[in-house]
Amino acid sequence: MHRIISQDEAGGATLTERSQDPTAPKGMEFHHAKQGRPLSTPWQVATIRSFMLTETNLADGWLLDCACGSGIQLIAHASVLNRRAVGIELDEERAMASAMNFLTVAQHQDAEGLPWYGESRILVGDGTDAAGAMEALGGHKEGIALLHLDPARPRNSRTHDLSEMQPPLDEVFRSWAPYFSEHPKGPALLLDLSPRLTEKQRMEVEALVDAVWPQIERTWVWTSRGRGRVDRLALWLGAAALGPDKRRFVRVPPQLGDGALIISSTRHTPPLECLFHPPHRGEFVSILDAALIESGLAVSWLSEVSAEIMTRWAVIEGRRPQLHHKAPLRLDKADNLLVQATGKVVELLPFDLDDATVDRVVEAALENNMASVKIRMDTPPEKQPRWQGSLDRQLARRHGTKEGFLVRHPGGDVLLLCVCHSESS
Ligand SMILES: C[S@@+](CC[C@H](N)C(=O)[O-])C[C@H]1O[C@@H](n2cnc3c(N)ncnc32)[C@H](O)[C@@H]1O
Repeated sequence: MHRIISQDEAGGATLTERSQDPTAPKGMEFHHAKQGRPLSTPWQVATIRSFMLTETNLADGWLLDCACGSGIQLIAHASVLNRRAVGIELDEERAMASAMNFLTVAQHQDAEGLPWYGESRILVGDGTDAAGAMEALGGHKEGIALLHLDPARPRNSRTHDLSEMQPPLDEVFRSWAPYFSEHPKGPALLLDLSPRLTEKQRMEVEALVDAVWPQIERTWVWTSRGRGRVDRLALWLGAAALGPDKRRFVRVPPQLGDGALIISSTRHTPPLECLFHPPHRGEFVSILDAALIESGLAVSWLSEVSAEIMTRWAVIEGRRPQLHHKAPLRLDKADNLLVQATGKVVELLPFDLDDATVDRVVEAALENNMASVKIRMDTPPEKQPRWQGSLDRQLARRHGTKEGFLVRHPGGDVLLLCVCHSESS
């Protein structure tokens, strides 16, 4: 049985869990319930996604989120597309939070008279019971234009097994399949999955999709808010697939008003391979964003910022993927978000960093007129602050002018002292 939360009920309800999402406009405070806040999609991420949906041509009908939590993503879809939406949530208090958040955003945008608010509905009930939900909405008069699903997952899951998702993907697919509006590309679905899924698990998700809608179009989208981490991994399907793109990487900008940096590929990209070669003075080293590497789109991005055919991946695992190349990268402001450091090798130091060798790095840095050297390689966490502090103190006292960084050549105990590119050029 599904129950519709009326707008009056939502307007009069009181929920205490209320907070300002730092990525939402000031004053747009969202309600949550039962610890719903960490589950909810940040407003900035939600709206970037909803704007990407404007690239598609959805059928008529409801925008549906059948496990809507605090409703943030659904409200973003409804308000950006100005279309009626229905959210379903098993937990009554969270469903109430969703209804209240619809009102909050509508009031903030002065949109209470618009269809996206007036005609949207929040249901308390089971999101895998499509027949029950459609009955509560007044029968099967209108179909589903888009199904969004961000299933709950155990907080501390190690395996990210698909069976841990609630509601389960296959049950949702089977239940809602008969209710989608007609579209030449098939139904539109947006699956918001764990960012830690392995390639094998991604293939398992695709197999579940193919079991209901064989070979429907699909775009995998990796979203990162920086710090080298993938924050979201989503599969956009059928009428929601993003043109011919097979993969996309979306870097959410640090400034709220800026557009996202989007890199895409229409082809399946082969995995990267490391290529060993001896260290060279004069070549360039770039430490790239680890999330970009994880998305498999680094090569597509490189083709935009470098004319070189023979770049060499020295490190592809971990937090500091290392690329070696002959010419500087051509980076604009947005590209800088994908580069931790880039510069020219000015010294090969035939030792590893330790308490005794920090001073030798300082000497080499001074010989190269450097004012700072940032350590950009793995070091024991308890030692890193001491070594970085020593470099900073000793170099600050002198008169160098160039910024630089230090990495370890993957082939052995050779450190590469680099001058940042803007300085070296
Ligand atoms: C990750 S949260 C969704 C967050 C949402 N995308 C947002 O932006 O706020 C997943 C929600 O699914 C709900 N849920 C789990 N099983 C469900 C089911 N069978 N039917 C409806 N909701 C369900 C959970 O209570 C939880 O609130």
